[in-house]
Amino acid sequence: MNKLENLAQYQIRINQLLANKLAQLPVNDTKLLEAMQYGLLIGGKRMRPYLAYITGEMLELDMNDIDGIAAALECIHAYSLLHDDLPAMDNDDLRRGKPTCHKAFNEATAILAGDSLQTLAFDILAHHNFSAGIENKRITLIKHLVNASGYQGMCGGQALDLSATNQSISLTQLEKLHSLKTGALLQACVLMAAECSNKITSDEKQKLNQYAKAIGLAYQVRDDIIDITSSDDELGKPAGSDITANKSTYPALLGLHGARKKTENLYQQALQALSSLPYNTQNLSDFASFIVHRTS
Ligand code: IPE
Ligand code: IPE
Ligand code: MG
Ligand code: MG
Ligand code: MG
Repeated sequence: MNKLENLAQYQIRINQLLANKLAQLPVNDTKLLEAMQYGLLIGGKRMRPYLAYITGEMLELDMNDIDGIAAALECIHAYSLLHDDLPAMDNDDLRRGKPTCHKAFNEATAILAGDSLQTLAFDILAHHNFSAGIENKRITLIKHLVNASGYQGMCGGQALDLSATNQSISLTQLEKLHSLKTGALLQACVLMAAECSNKITSDEKQKLNQYAKAIGLAYQVRDDIIDITSSDDELGKPAGSDITANKSTYPALLGLHGARKKTENLYQQALQALSSLPYNTQNLSDFASFIVHRTS
């Protein structure tokens, strides 16, 4: 598998940023703060921040601006995982190689830590020290994150996921479910970074959006595949969880071979969208390739 350029550097950058952020919060309840730290700071590939950073790098943006976006996106992602693992949802006991938050603490604390990380995301966007040229984009950035994470995006997709459990649904319905529950937030990583460019044309933005849509969906299709083909140790979460729960997934509907073909098609669509952009798109195309081949 290809190496992702500067991945370690951006992981360190976002980890420090998030750790500093939580260290400064005047949270009254120690258990709540510890659960927020547990859910946000321990482990995770940091793919959403990475995607925002490489998009920003490609567009020659100020990385301090991308910091606020990356931190907000990872807070939403971490919150989504705390809630996704709860007994009322996927009922999983292992996450990022450790007991899930509700196992390490308790269900009420995991719910509240998730809620707090969600509001922290918007707190960060509302207060980040954006550069002068970006200040007028703050509300637009907040709107992007609202759309990607709320009923119109991730939460809406999670609701479709629960309704589709133990049901058979069409490929069109499954594509919508996956595009919302996981694709929307990954799409926002690219679009929010692009929003900070004052030079990008609307045509270029549209191409980037096509890229982001394709890789966002591919991310969840690959997640479905590795749920079957990787081990607990590799994943840091329970392998086979989708089959146990009788979830609607790409391998369930198309078989492993069909699901792999779907990721390959999405990969080609992503590359096609990048091909006409007048930027160095190498890191974005490497990221698309990484998604299709990752094993964890
Ligand atoms: C897992 O996301 C949940 C999905 C939306 C597919 P990641 O595979 O990015 O999880 P972490 O952040 O690396 O743990
Ligand atoms: C998660 O999908 C989507 C989220 C919004 C959290 P999954 O339920 O497949 O994610 P994992 O496999 O538990 O990480
Ligand atoms: Mg789930
Ligand atoms: Mg899950
Ligand atoms: Mg999964």
